[in-house]
Amino acid sequence: MIPVAGYLLDFPISDRNRSAIPLRFGSGPRAGLESCRRGSISAWRFHLAGRGRAHHLRGVPKILFIGDIVGKPGREILVERLLRLRAELKVDVVIANGENVAAGSGITGALAKALLATGIDALTLGDHVWDQRGWEDDIDDFPTVCRPANLPASCPGADHVILNVKGFKLAVFTVLGRTFMGMKAECPFLCVDVMLKKLEGQADAVLVEIHAEATSEKIALGWYLDGRAVAVLGTHTHVPTADASVLPKGTGFMCDVGMTGPYASVLGREVAPVLSRFIDGMPKRFEVAEGDVRISGALVDYDEVAKRARSVELITVRRAGGR
Ligand SMILES: [Fe+2]
Ligand SMILES: [Fe+2]
Repeated sequence: MIPVAGYLLDFPISDRNRSAIPLRFGSGPRAGLESCRRGSISAWRFHLAGRGRAHHLRGVPKILFIGDIVGKPGREILVERLLRLRAELKVDVVIANGENVAAGSGITGALAKALLATGIDALTLGDHVWDQRGWEDDIDDFPTVCRPANLPASCPGADHVILNVKGFKLAVFTVLGRTFMGMKAECPFLCVDVMLKKLEGQADAVLVEIHAEATSEKIALGWYLDGRAVAVLGTHTHVPTADASVLPKGTGFMCDVGMTGPYASVLGREVAPVLSRFIDGMPKRFEVAEGDVRISGALVDYDEVAKRARSVELITVRRAGGR
């Protein structure tokens, strides 16, 4: 069917009214109203009938993207709060970066499984992707976990994940930046072009994570993808930025969504050894810190009809008691 107009009406629809309502205008083409519900949002679409498949208006997917989860404190606050947060914010899908889950460096199969049980739908990874021995053998067992897309093609693991969000297919992938980054990676700008081409026809929309150190490289990628991605969201620096915005052509952007872990720290690690290392340069063990644990992420409202983000906002949740 050919969609000719779309409406979003925010009023309750009873279950018996959820099927399509046929209409006829004089001797003109058959038409109909199709309805669906997404949480509290009721969506209706007016369509002409007769050709092709029905195109359903599915509503406004709300996406929560959680930044680098650091160690046990990061895992614990997600166990404590994520399901409630999903309900409070009426979130449809949760994506999180898990590159620092295993004592601050990398991830394991057991930890990936545990995280996916907290209410996370997909896990992405960054430059610490291979820090834990054995993960390179386990990653392919996880269809909702992906490694950065611009690593060499010979690396194990998927380069993207496609999530089915109540009929809306959202693709997610990560690219590593190359400025001030130690890991060998292909050009992120060329990589996103290749990935978007590859995902054409497989997904309704694509969300891109830029895992990078330089704010300039992240911002440049946001502009490069404006109008072509749901959002471009930054990770890796572990510090949330105050620049959440929707770019002119509709792509949501945030330079860094911040880490999920202990903020009484230096990027999630205990302060004293990091401070000491800066002062005398002597090697130290950097243990994961414990104080002021927070969830940090970006909440993206995406308008599927207008094909643009409505809003992007920083979400911060502090552990009760605020240790
Ligand atoms: Fe990183
Ligand atoms: Fe990180």
